[in-house]
Amino acid sequence: MPVRVIIGAQWGDEGKGKIVDLLASKVQVVARYQGGANAGHTIWDGDKKYILRLIPSGILHDGVMCILGNGVVIDPIAFFTELDGLAKGGIRMDGRVMVSPHAHIIFPYHKLIDQAKEKYLGKNQVGTTQRGIGPAYLDKIDRCGIRAIDLMNHDTLTEKLQKNISEKNKILKAFGAEELAAEPMIKQFHELGNRLREYVKDTAVYLYEAVKYNKEVLLEGAQGTLLDIDHGTYPFVTSSNSSSGGASTGLGLGPTKIDHVMGVAKAYTTRVGNGPFPTEFDEIFSEKIRKLGGEYGAVTGRPRRCGWLDLVQLKYAMVVNGIDELAITKLDVLDTLDELKICMAYKVNGVKIDYPITDAGELAKVEPVYTAFKGWLSDTGNAKKYTDLPENARTYLKFIEDFMGDAKIKIVSVGQERDRTLMI
Ligand code: GDP
Ligand code: IMO
Ligand code: MG
Repeated sequence: MPVRVIIGAQWGDEGKGKIVDLLASKVQVVARYQGGANAGHTIWDGDKKYILRLIPSGILHDGVMCILGNGVVIDPIAFFTELDGLAKGGIRMDGRVMVSPHAHIIFPYHKLIDQAKEKYLGKNQVGTTQRGIGPAYLDKIDRCGIRAIDLMNHDTLTEKLQKNISEKNKILKAFGAEELAAEPMIKQFHELGNRLREYVKDTAVYLYEAVKYNKEVLLEGAQGTLLDIDHGTYPFVTSSNSSSGGASTGLGLGPTKIDHVMGVAKAYTTRVGNGPFPTEFDEIFSEKIRKLGGEYGAVTGRPRRCGWLDLVQLKYAMVVNGIDELAITKLDVLDTLDELKICMAYKVNGVKIDYPITDAGELAKVEPVYTAFKGWLSDTGNAKKYTDLPENARTYLKFIEDFMGDAKIKIVSVGQERDRTLMI
């Protein structure tokens, strides 16, 4: 398995961090390809908890090279805070983190515009993490973004930043938000650039060589397929390609080099932020699952919305990502339920359909069609192999696999810890 993409197959927070960390013990390189500090990937190392936002989830394994590709948007302050935290925790980092010179940088004006725009949108807001992600990708596409390589050159940085700040201040003023002074920001980011210098390397060439010499590589996605800018529930999405195609463009690694795509999905569904969610529970049941599953945002602490597993959506994720392997996480969260449901079709105006809808307006109108399953009412957390799982849990998982057709379940996760994982 030389090169494997690990993607979120739902609306994010599927447990990608745990799965990447687990698989990272057998690889040499882990590379993040999109998103920024909007991500929160949780890893438990014994009783130590790490929440990674920018640094790839292979960092806890000595000797694994961790790459932030050109598709990632980097907030250097968040990046160094995270690196310093890891170093303090005793993680050896020397020469193990690489940043693409072409990765775009998040500046304070991106965060302020993100916040001001959400406020302006009021009840129609996306519910972003307010980390400046959308405005930074907007500048990238608008060809006025500032990249890691620009931070290394004082004159280039000064020229580009002066131009951007003057333009962004007009936007901030229109929103009635605080305007920014150029000089302190130029100084601050020039210093951050100097510190970043040792991490900036040609990541695309490094990856090409790694693959050529048969190193084992994981390509780590952030967010999830339904949050993908092209394939998600637009406009309630993030601003990058979180699906597997983003791995190629976000790292400069040709698609012919990718061998497997593993989709990570919870045994139920969660979503944080606004937008349609057909299988969402009522608030009382949502609160029950939220408590059982600890469903609070790793970055913002926001309560996650919870619902039944939606296989129409998951199959769509399989189609657009080319998922051939599945990791089903958080099965243990369902241990105490008498009855479970899986959505396997939608009804639109009383007519049953089984094809996906991602347009937010249309998806908001669908009614889920469920199949019910008997609960297993026993503890799955102590299972050591698949056959240890109660029969009803295996029936539940087999239904998922049969429905998906082309994708096989390779991992079942039954707890947040590394050893609560069943490899199939
Ligand atoms: P990510 O963004 O996809 O990496 O996921 P998050 O870290 O944001 O959210 C997943 C949460 O579920 C974290 O708190 C994990 O520690 C936890 N988790 C992961 N797998 C399991 C599991 O199988 N069972 C339980 N109970 N918790 C899990
Ligand atoms: P991980 O990698 C869950 C959601 C936000 C909002 C939308 C746009 O931990 O799975 P943004 O700040 O990206 O412009 O917000 O996307 N969102 C996530 N939801 N997990 C994430 O990351 C997310 N990153 C962004 O809540 O709805
Ligand atoms: Mg998360």
